[in-house]
Parts: sequence; structure tokens; C-alpha cells
Amino acid sequence: MTDLHLTLDRSAGVRTGLERALREAITAMPPGTRLPSSRALAIDLGVARNTVAEVYSQLVQEGRLEGDRGAGTRVAAVQPQPAQMSPSSLQPEVAHDLRAGRPDVSFFPAAAWNAATRQVLNTRPREALQYDEAQGSRYAREVLAGYLNRVRGVQADPDRILLCSGLRQAVALVAGALHRQGARSFGYERPGQPAIRQQLSWVGLDPRPLPIDSHGAVVGQLGDEAGAVLTPAHQFPTGVPLAPRRRTEVIAWARRTGGVIVEDDYDGEFRYDRQPIERCRGWGPTSSRTPVRRARRSRPACVSAGSSCRATSSTPWSPRKNSPTATATAWPS
Ligand SMILES: Cc1ncc(COP(=O)(O)O)c(C=O)c1O
Repeated sequence: MTDLHLTLDRSAGVRTGLERALREAITAMPPGTRLPSSRALAIDLGVARNTVAEVYSQLVQEGRLEGDRGAGTRVAAVQPQPAQMSPSSLQPEVAHDLRAGRPDVSFFPAAAWNAATRQVLNTRPREALQYDEAQGSRYAREVLAGYLNRVRGVQADPDRILLCSGLRQAVALVAGALHRQGARSFGYERPGQPAIRQQLSWVGLDPRPLPIDSHGAVVGQLGDEAGAVLTPAHQFPTGVPLAPRRRTEVIAWARRTGGVIVEDDYDGEFRYDRQPIERCRGWGPTSSRTPVRRARRSRPACVSAGSSCRATSSTPWSPRKNSPTATATAWPS
């Protein structure tokens, strides 16, 4: 039931004032919103219950409210005067919402999720609810490493996994650490996820766009950048995978320059028309960092994870001097 805050102007009479106030309040409420009972509202406003019941009844007759005995009074699903509708309720119903970044949450496996949550709460020791390592729960990292080994063919070590709040944090951590080591610029895909460019700028790097064609990011344009954020499995938003030739090319570039490839394994598990695509990390140098996301499968605000980005070397970053081995020293493998 909704708590109603009504400002009652009694100058034209209590009934008229209540009717005006309710009409105005209803226009801001989503259809189906349940109103307080006439008795509760009357007590709240200090007016006679009959007055509230009369106004409710009038608004029901006008089609603004719906009232069923026992089910209470609700804002009608369809309001009679479109001119008074809120902009959101004016949006046409669509059969298929194909906007990017909006998963079909109706597929969310709520029963399995609840069962898993219950099982974990019942079986994990109470201590597991305490604060954990800054790198993220060890247990979660071990489970994730097993998953990455099994499903994505990556030799993942729980000690080298860092759990992040999402792609933004993963990019900010990697790019920020490189910037502190002297990096100046970083490549990103354009078109791509706008947040990546923002994060690169915010940490002080010069974001350099890489165009996309039918083979994925044009990685041949990479030069003296400290690294690049790529979506090899499933480019966002075009969906094109990075062609094998381009993978070889970008890995050769990383080996040559010490550049860091941040592999955004975006929707990497989803494939409709092709075999799984191996991640760049399986092909190349130790400097590939892979934020692995688990979000789209479940809900937008779920857990994402990025691999380790601990910088232990104080040696300034230099693209020409760093061999992949030197990079591996700065970013332990
Ligand atoms: C290319 C790309 N990578 C990753 C993500 C996931 O971001 P987050 O980890 O913040 O959920 C998105 C979200 O839309 C995306 O478009």
C-alpha cells in the first residue's frame, strides 16, 4: 500500500480539496499503485471516512481508480485522459526490445539463484561473511579460476585474480597502474562501450580510438600506446569476432612493444552461430589482462571480475624498452 502525502487545501471545502489533491497525486503514480484504505486515509488527513469513500468512488467511476471489494483501491491500468499521462506511460509497448545493454531479465533463473544462495548460506562457515581479502573472496576466486580453466581454456591462478565491481573498475585499475608507471596513451575500440574511453581519460591517459571493420578492431593502427582494451570474442556493439589474423597481429604488437592487452571477454560465453572463440590470453603474452564478466547472463548489476593487476615493479613503463618478459616482471604472471 502507498503512503500518500496529500496537501489538502480546505479553502473550497474538504471534499473539493481532497478530490483535487488526489487527482494530482494519481497522475504521478504508476498504474496499479495501491492506495490506502479510505479509513486509513481519513485518519491520516483528519477528515470523515465517508468523504474519502465518496472521492474514491467518484474517481473509480471516472476510470482513474479501480476498486475491488477486498483488493483495495488502485490506480487504474489505463488512465482515461492521455493528456494527463506521465511521459513513461506514453511509451508504446514493443514486441521485441532490441536495445543494446538491456538483457531479457525475464529469463533470470530466480529459483536456481535462490537455491544456490540458500545452499551457500547453509553450508559456508559463518566466518565467510566477514570482510575478506581486498583482492576478493578467496573461495570465489578459486571457483572462478576453476570455471575459467574449464570453460574458457585459461590457466587461471586464484592468486592472480582480482575481483572487481565491473568493467569500469577493472579498466581504471589496469590503466591507472600503467599511468603511474609512465604510460601516456591507450587504445580503445570505437564504436565501443563508452565507459572505457571515459575511464582511460579519468586516469590521465590519452584514449586513442581503433576503428572497427568486418574483421574486428583494426589493431594494425596500434603504435606507441601502452595497451588497448579489446572485445575479441564479441565486439560491442557490432558483435563481430576479432579475426585470427588480427589476433596474431595484436599479440605480435604486444610482444614487440610490451603493450598490455585488456581483453574484455564481453558475452564471451554467448554464441549463436559459431564455435567458442578462444580468448587472446590463451594465445599470447603474459601481459594480457582479462576482465571476465558474468553480468549479462544474470542481471546488469551482478558481479564482474578482472584478472590480477598488481604492479610490483617501480620501473617506469617504456614501450620500446619493455620486452614481454619485462612486462611480466612488472605484472607478475
Ligand atoms: C563491451 C562491454 N563490456 C563489458 C560490459 C559490462 O560492464 P559491467 O562489468 O560494468 O557490467 C558492457 C556492458 O554493457 C559492455 O558493453
